[in-house]
This record gives sequence, structure tokens and C-alpha cells, in this order.
Amino acid sequence: MTFPHIDASRQDSLTSDQVEFFKDNGLLVIRNLIAPAELALLQSETRTLVDRAVAGDEDPDFAYKEHELTGTRVPFRVEYPVDKLPSCKVLAGHPFVLRSVEMLQGRNFIPTWDSMVFKNAGAGTGIPWHRDSGDGCGASKRDRPIFNVDIYLDASDRSNCVWGIPGSNRWAQERADETIARLNSGGFSTEGATPIEMQPGDCLFHNILALHGSAPAQSHLRRVIYYEYRPGETEREFGPHTLGYIPEKQRVLAACLRHRAAAPYARGERPFVYRPDADFTAPTLAAGEWPATYRYPHGQFWRPPAATIAATA
Ligand code: NI
Repeated sequence: MTFPHIDASRQDSLTSDQVEFFKDNGLLVIRNLIAPAELALLQSETRTLVDRAVAGDEDPDFAYKEHELTGTRVPFRVEYPVDKLPSCKVLAGHPFVLRSVEMLQGRNFIPTWDSMVFKNAGAGTGIPWHRDSGDGCGASKRDRPIFNVDIYLDASDRSNCVWGIPGSNRWAQERADETIARLNSGGFSTEGATPIEMQPGDCLFHNILALHGSAPAQSHLRRVIYYEYRPGETEREFGPHTLGYIPEKQRVLAACLRHRAAAPYARGERPFVYRPDADFTAPTLAAGEWPATYRYPHGQFWRPPAATIAATA
């Protein structure tokens, strides 16, 4: 499996061929998305979250699990980095990312999940094979895929990289379930899968239905920021959030675009302009006005009955 070579320092949006490749395969690698000055700031700010997690912070946004090889409790995930860190607000306004999301999902997209997933040095927990969501309701369609943008702040190699199965985003749920069970039985098998090795500043788009996972590791720290996006039409029809979630997240997006416009290291780039259709008109943010929070807990916005397509990246 060979990915098209996409270098974000040489193109400022995807080509139509690259868009089609992602719709078919559910995985897309973008090199050099984050320039050195922005990367350095993201690395130093996220370091504070890693340090808190390693110290065992019991904030509910910090998640832990048992390491498969050592049996120790290790941190692996922190929710809502956009609320926690200025650099993650600026990153959420990244024009290459947002132009790509618009090309793939249409102009009414909204940001949904944001989290940081990491493997700490010497104690990287595995992530068994999975889909981020079941396909029961058909919300993630080929021509309007729901996907995550995974931004790497550290390198990943064969010891700790994510593995994926290109094209598995189009599989029936039964085939996905069988394959997941087979590859997870007796450890993490990479049979038939593609390793996705990354450099700091690289980015992976992954369809929420593409099978992916990673083996437990004891190598170096590797942090990944996850931003999930959904077409507004899909969110309105299927949820999982209430309708009131859409304008709140549009306001967050507007504020993040404003943060990016003010960031010295983003000067000189062609900014993204969010222009939803009339029936998705975004709430305005007055001059000098900022959202009171960038943290909209999913649990407070579930649409009853309990949603079936909640993703966890
Ligand atoms: Ni996942």
C-alpha cells in the first residue's frame, strides 16, 4: 500500500485525486503540516499535560489504563486540549486542515472531538484494533466521510506507530468485526496491515470506520493531537449531539480562526474562511468577544436516546 506523497509545505490544500484517494482508502498521510515554530510551541505546551498525567492527575479529562507488558497504570489520553492550551486553539484554525475538511465534508462542517493521545516514554499502552464508531446508522458516507485529523508532535516508528487497513472504511460491519477479533486475539497482529510511520509535524487523516490500532510499546514519547470533524448535515440528522451543539462548536471554530490570525508563526499563510450555507449560519463573535469556554463535554450534549455513533478516536 503506497500513500500519495503530500507535502503541506509545497501545497496549501489537497488535490481532487488526493481527496478521492482518501474517500476510497480511509487513510491519508500529509507530511510537513506543521512548520518548526508552531511545532516547537505545541511540543512545549503539551509537555505540561504529559507531566500532569505522569504525576497521576485525577482530573476527569485525563485517562489511564493498564500497560499490557508491565501491568502498571499508565496515562494515554487527555481530552479537550483546545480548551487547555493556546497552541491547540491556534492549531484548530489550521488552513490546510480546514480546507481539506471542507473539500471532504462540505462547507457546513463542525469540529467535534479534540483530544491528545500519547505513548509515554517506556510505557506506551497499546490500542487494540478498532473502528472509532460502528457503521450501524450509516452516518459516515464515502462522499461525506467522518474523520479524524491526527497531528504528530513526535516521530513514530515500527516500535510504536499506528497500523491501518486501507479500504476497511468501506467494509460491512460484520467483516470489520471478524477482522478486529482475529487481529486482536493473542496480542496485536499486523497481518495484512500497513504501518504508518510519521515524523514530527506530519499528519494522518483517518476515517472513523477505517480499522486501526497500535501495539504496546516501551520506546520513546509520541504525542498525537486528534481533531474530529463532522458534516453539519450529518450531525443534524444522526447526532450524536443535540442540535444546540452545532452553533456552540461553530463559535469555537470562529474563535480559533481568530487566534490563528493573531499568531505570529501563522503569518504569511493563506487563511481559511468558514462560509457555511444559510441554514447553517454561524453565530457571530463580536470584536473583542471570546467564547467563555472551548470545552463542550460530549456527555452534556448527547441527543436522547443514547447515541450509537459516538466516536472515541
Ligand atoms: Ni481510533
